[in-house]
Amino acid sequence: MKKNWQQQNIYHSPVLLSQVIHFLNITKEGTYLDGTIGPGGHARVILSRLSSEGIFFGLDRDEEAIRFCKSTLPASSICHLICDTYHNFPLYLAKYKIKAVDGMFLDLGLSSLQLDSPNRGFSYRTDGPLDMRFGTDTKITARIIINEWDKTDLKKIFRNYGEERYSGQIATAIVKNRKNRQVQTTGDLKEIISTVIPKMKITKTLSRIFQALRLTVNRELESLEFFLDTFIEFLKPGSRIVVISYHSLEDRKVKQKFKELEKGCVCPPTIPICQCGKKPSLKILTKKPVIPTQDEITRNKRARSAKLRAGEKIS
Ligand SMILES: C[S@@+](CC[C@H](N)C(=O)[O-])C[C@H]1O[C@@H](n2cnc3c(N)ncnc32)[C@H](O)[C@@H]1O
Repeated sequence: MKKNWQQQNIYHSPVLLSQVIHFLNITKEGTYLDGTIGPGGHARVILSRLSSEGIFFGLDRDEEAIRFCKSTLPASSICHLICDTYHNFPLYLAKYKIKAVDGMFLDLGLSSLQLDSPNRGFSYRTDGPLDMRFGTDTKITARIIINEWDKTDLKKIFRNYGEERYSGQIATAIVKNRKNRQVQTTGDLKEIISTVIPKMKITKTLSRIFQALRLTVNRELESLEFFLDTFIEFLKPGSRIVVISYHSLEDRKVKQKFKELEKGCVCPPTIPICQCGKKPSLKILTKKPVIPTQDEITRNKRARSAKLRAGEKIS
């Protein structure tokens, strides 16, 4: 029988925890939003800083994550746990008649609980179905992409979302192999990729291909873009946004949007006097991204690629 996360007793260590808490600058009666609550590692600490006057919203697309948080976080009337994509957060603020919050937090990507659950198909290290969906509301799975998309589209996602050099060779090998039989599992896919990639490079290539598939299945970059285009309206002046990303595609988007909001004006440099009227709305608090210490990386390998960026809404 399939075990749930609690029964599996998998340990998840929240990344850059003290830095997240520092940058959120929590006030105990404030309203806070964690858009990617996962197993609730950061949420537990944020909640512990709030009084009964505070409000906390924790969202995740993964029902299993929400179920896990419901059974492991202290029961509290100030804590609202919601299974939905984080870019839909304005719907839930509206539901509770909240115009703006005191802090927002995103810890992008996937949790170690998801990664270590073979039945979710996120990892090439264990054999499992080619699924990779964060939420069952998503229609497409990695199996559909691998078995039904044409070679050009496969190559495109491996290149664009995995930045993989061997994208063409891998797409060709997949299309050739699937003619004989469906590619059903992470193990099948790993085997196909291994036939065209030198042994020395296989681990990094597998990581990149699995990342590309996961980003495509869950439309992760689209969610992030949507969120980045809207969050500022829903932050109170003086309040903070904190985002942790794990690869350059996401980090670049966060960095560029923060810069755009700090600059305000979007007129082309050839126009001497501002016509757009946009004012700076964010002060960047992390000129360079904050990264984990070597000690944290030793304790928690998953932290190794983390980059934290934070900003404060200008009054
Ligand atoms: C890195 S984990 C969060 C871990 C959490 N901060 C902790 O330390 O316990 C990322 C979580 O984001 C969720 N997620 C990814 N994309 C999402 C989206 N668009 N909307 C909501 N949740 C999302 C994943 O399901 C996963 O549970």
